[in-house]
Amino acid sequence: MSNIDAAKYIDTERYPIDQPDSDQYQQLVQTIREQLDAVGCAVLTGFIKRECLQEFIDEGDQVADKGHRSFNKTNVYFSKDDESLAADHPARRFYDRSNSFVPADNFGADSPLRSVYEWPPFMPFIQATLNEQEFYRYADPLADVIINVVEDGDGFPWHFDTNNYTVTLAIQNSLHGGEFKYAPNLRTPTDENYDGVKAILNGDENQVNTLELNPGDLQIFKGRYSLHRVTPVKGKRRRYVGIFSFVDQPGMVAKVERCKQLYGRTLPIHHQRENERNDNLKD
Ligand SMILES: [Fe+2]
Repeated sequence: MSNIDAAKYIDTERYPIDQPDSDQYQQLVQTIREQLDAVGCAVLTGFIKRECLQEFIDEGDQVADKGHRSFNKTNVYFSKDDESLAADHPARRFYDRSNSFVPADNFGADSPLRSVYEWPPFMPFIQATLNEQEFYRYADPLADVIINVVEDGDGFPWHFDTNNYTVTLAIQNSLHGGEFKYAPNLRTPTDENYDGVKAILNGDENQVNTLELNPGDLQIFKGRYSLHRVTPVKGKRRRYVGIFSFVDQPGMVAKVERCKQLYGRTLPIHHQRENERNDNLKD
């Protein structure tokens, strides 16, 4: 549990997330819902007050070397190669991915990042914007609050998310690159739109939005239908993004394989829960 009252970090005048009965709160939720419906993305600029940002950056600097670096090749679906498909099919296009996630057990009771995640008004507010019926903090001690560290040369190639939504906080930008690009609603639950995906992989940016996210901005993104990527980072300064995870079932933790892949290790709870899960999800 966090020892910090995150009220001091959050610009609650602009974003009164602690006053759910106010008109301003209702309007804010409504605006975000409209943005999510239209393009699957909403950004609360300056969510963290400017004068508090240094505490978050310092935290990033303190834990950056605790990140587990992983390298692999991935297609936009995170699926394996399928030789039965045509050679130019988007599912057969693989790109280098390198990444580093600082596991959640580096963010303890004195962590500014964790204080935001655990601030009581935060989760109900995010739940309201996403209009989700079942909504819980992730119970995974390695994964509930993490930082993604991106260094010179690293990036995240085009992909669709496997989860329905992500909630992230920009903490520090790289000197160059590190832009967030996304093609809203490129596919639907019934249409993969392979031609549209192929066009973007070939460099067509007609349907692509570029977002400039600045430190302190909170982003809510529904990435299951919107193809997106982070352009390669250039320069000495690392890019830090905090990731807050929420799930639709209480007590959930990551699967053992997924956990090893992302964090390079597991905890006893991952093994205990492996057989207790009653869904058939892959991650
Ligand atoms: Fe993503």
